[in-house]
Amino acid sequence: MSTMAPDRKLDRRGFLGAAGLAGAATALSGRALAASDKREPDPLILETQDSSRYLGEGVDKRPYGKPSPYESHVVRRDVSWLTASAESSVNFTPLHELEGIITPSGLCFERHHAGIADIKPADHRLMIHGLVEKPLVFTMSDIKRMPRSSRVYFLECAANSGMEWRGAQLNGCQFTHGMVHNVMYTGVTLKTLLDEAGLKPSAKWLMLEGADASGMNRSLPLDKALKDVMLAFAMNGEALRPEQGYPLRAVIPGWEGNLWVKWLRRIEVGDRPWQTREETSKYTDLLADGRSRRFTYVMDAKSVVTNPSPQAPLRQKGRNVLSGIAWSGRGSVTRVDVSFDGGRNWHTARIDGPVLDKSLTRFYVDFDWNGQELMIQSRAIDSTGYVQPAKAELRKVRGVNSIYHNNGIQTWLVRPNGDTENVEIG
Ligand code: MTE
Ligand code: CO
Repeated sequence: MSTMAPDRKLDRRGFLGAAGLAGAATALSGRALAASDKREPDPLILETQDSSRYLGEGVDKRPYGKPSPYESHVVRRDVSWLTASAESSVNFTPLHELEGIITPSGLCFERHHAGIADIKPADHRLMIHGLVEKPLVFTMSDIKRMPRSSRVYFLECAANSGMEWRGAQLNGCQFTHGMVHNVMYTGVTLKTLLDEAGLKPSAKWLMLEGADASGMNRSLPLDKALKDVMLAFAMNGEALRPEQGYPLRAVIPGWEGNLWVKWLRRIEVGDRPWQTREETSKYTDLLADGRSRRFTYVMDAKSVVTNPSPQAPLRQKGRNVLSGIAWSGRGSVTRVDVSFDGGRNWHTARIDGPVLDKSLTRFYVDFDWNGQELMIQSRAIDSTGYVQPAKAELRKVRGVNSIYHNNGIQTWLVRPNGDTENVEIG
């Protein structure tokens, strides 16, 4: 992995070197927390507060619980100029507000081509036909009586970071990287249903179609369908949310989000891809020489530092926690490196929590900040040995014509006052 050329416009004088960071971590271990240094008597701990004085609300006040009102800023957000209508649009997961690896259902980004379909589960049907021995129509209750399993997978839209192909644009990891979520799905394997219908020997491809007004459809190679594709009816322990395809969606582990057809109503079995709109004019990657990469299904290894980031700047000197997420559509994340000086020196981050195949993985660097300017980057390495590339390296191969599959290394510039900005180096 080559390091990047320094950007002359940015001042590198105050940067923290490798030795400085390691020293900082040791110095921290023997030190008391900043809070206990406080000299003034603090009424918030010395005096009885209202919460201790009055009874709180009883049970059943909230039959389906909601987050604390003090967390009302933690919401999905859209970028108003990005799309012409809210029905064919996207909003973004607030990655800088989340912990661990699971995305809460109500904060999973939404991408709809024709709004959220409203489907009564009792009226929902899934048809399997084409090159099968026995065309079948399933009800939700048929599907729920089949052997089920639960798996955690990330879903990333192929257009995630798409607005950043030509340069740093959006100020916040919610907007640069928030078209990703990580959910525990419960459902049945697609193989179970295909076995029931019986595949004809010439079967090679499937076409998945949604019951929404866009009739979203994509071709899926049969080997992938038989390997690990699920049809999910639940997420994070509850029924799928309407936004995520209630009552039934396809789960295509490690592959671009567009294939994860929501409100799934039809699967046709054929012997070649269908060349749908979403795999010809859209979701193909236009290269510099005018040719297009097609059927680029797999999401390559990627990572982002979520804290600090433009929406979550550094506000205190001394002890700080750098946190981020990494993922790979080819397997698991084996290592994440973090740089504080724009890619000159790299430190191995501490991975914490479950490390699962094709799932978000959480990493941390506990560091001491003395107010110097930082250029923070992270790079993921996956179980195939693939290393997340610098943006310059990616552009050399793929040009800047596409909006899809941008997994280049993100840089956050932390100014001495802690304000944090989206920048590029080199
Ligand atoms: N399925 C249907 N039926 N309609 C859609 O608009 N959008 C696709 C995919 N499946 C879409 C769909 C795209 S482009 C993505 S990235 C994911 O769903 C988004 O899933 P989410 O809304 O759960 O985040
Ligand atoms: Co998408």
